[in-house]
Amino acid sequence: MSAANKKEAKHRNSPSHLTIPTGVVVFVLACAGVAWANGGGILNSAHDFSSSSQPASAWNLSGQICYSCHAPHDFGHDKYESGLHWNHTTSNATYSTYVTSDGLAAPQPSGSSKLCLGCHDGTIAIDDFDGSTSSRNTYLSEYRDEFQIPGRLDRGQNLGRTHPVGVEYSYDPSDPDGLHSPTEPMGFSVSINDVLDNGKVVCSSCHDVHNNVSLEAANLLRAPMTVSQGSASGLCLSCHKK
Ligand code: HEC
Ligand code: HEC
Ligand code: HEC
Ligand code: HEC
Repeated sequence: MSAANKKEAKHRNSPSHLTIPTGVVVFVLACAGVAWANGGGILNSAHDFSSSSQPASAWNLSGQICYSCHAPHDFGHDKYESGLHWNHTTSNATYSTYVTSDGLAAPQPSGSSKLCLGCHDGTIAIDDFDGSTSSRNTYLSEYRDEFQIPGRLDRGQNLGRTHPVGVEYSYDPSDPDGLHSPTEPMGFSVSINDVLDNGKVVCSSCHDVHNNVSLEAANLLRAPMTVSQGSASGLCLSCHKK
């Protein structure tokens, strides 16, 4: 017996057309209230390597979120001596660094910047975590080439094209062109002090790796950068007075 398939045709109502009288110009001003929305946490963010919305399952065989960066127990791997239960290999690269307008070179990146560069400088495989160099060896360049920092353009260990990291945040109240007091608020964070690492600027001074106190869908930034996000160069102006 064969079943008869009946397909019902879908009827679409054609949209009715509004006739605007000639000569009448209607301006609709959509005054979108500036509402900053901050990231909803690491779940489904760029660093959620368990998420099916990105192809990380190809290299994150753990199927966990935190594990490619942190482990609850360090089984003697000593991935990062300064704590954080760090589980990912860090980079030994020597970088050329930003030279300021005064001719002073920024120091080598330190503190938690080293943790980011362990994936983002492109010299260490992103799946090189949990004590063993994985046999897959997936590098950021193969996975998300555009997110390789530094070297996005020149593929070197050149941090000279990146905002200086490892530099002291030195506040001079008498300098009108200088920096804001470190007790002032910073984006979604309580204060500038909160986003410094031992008083220094690091990658996570501007980015929130866990997507908690960063702007929704905007490179994990801690404050807006565009008018549509909330304020033009708001991130820069939260530290710099000019
Ligand atoms: C892509 C790497 C990465 C992933 C994934 C990650 N973290 Fe982190 N985590 C970091 C880095 C880098 C730091 C230190 C710098 C910072 O806080 O920005 C850190 C710091 C922390 C700290 C110290 C307190 C703080 O925020 O400064 C805690 C607690 C923490 N992470 C918990 C977690 C938990 C729980 C997860 C999983 C749900 C997780 N992290 C996933 C990279 C990661
Ligand atoms: C002074 C603030 C600041 C610091 C410090 C900083 N970034 Fe960024 N980063 C930004 C901004 C703003 C963007 C958005 C894109 C742009 O304007 O280039 C960005 C973009 C990115 C991107 C997205 C790719 C791209 O180029 O669009 C990655 C990945 C990144 N940064 C990683 C890092 C790493 C790793 C460090 C530390 C070595 C770092 N950032 C330090 C402000 C900063
Ligand atoms: C375990 C490796 C790893 C570590 C450690 C890591 N990242 Fe990433 N990061 C990645 C990968 C992989 C992506 C690309 C994710 C994707 O979109 O597929 C990424 C994406 C990003 C992006 C782009 C976000 C967006 O909006 O798409 C930024 C910004 C960034 N990382 C900054 C950082 C900073 C800052 C740190 C340190 C505080 C850090 N990352 C630590 C692997 C890492
Ligand atoms: C977390 C605070 C912080 C944020 C956010 C920040 N900066 Fe900076 N910036 C500093 C510090 C500290 C220095 C090094 C000391 C100095 O030059 O005053 C610096 C240095 C600089 C310099 C180098 C000055 C020189 O003498 O060569 C420039 C240019 C600059 N920042 C621009 C920016 C821009 C553009 C942004 C936004 C994308 C930004 N900064 C965001 C803290 C910050």
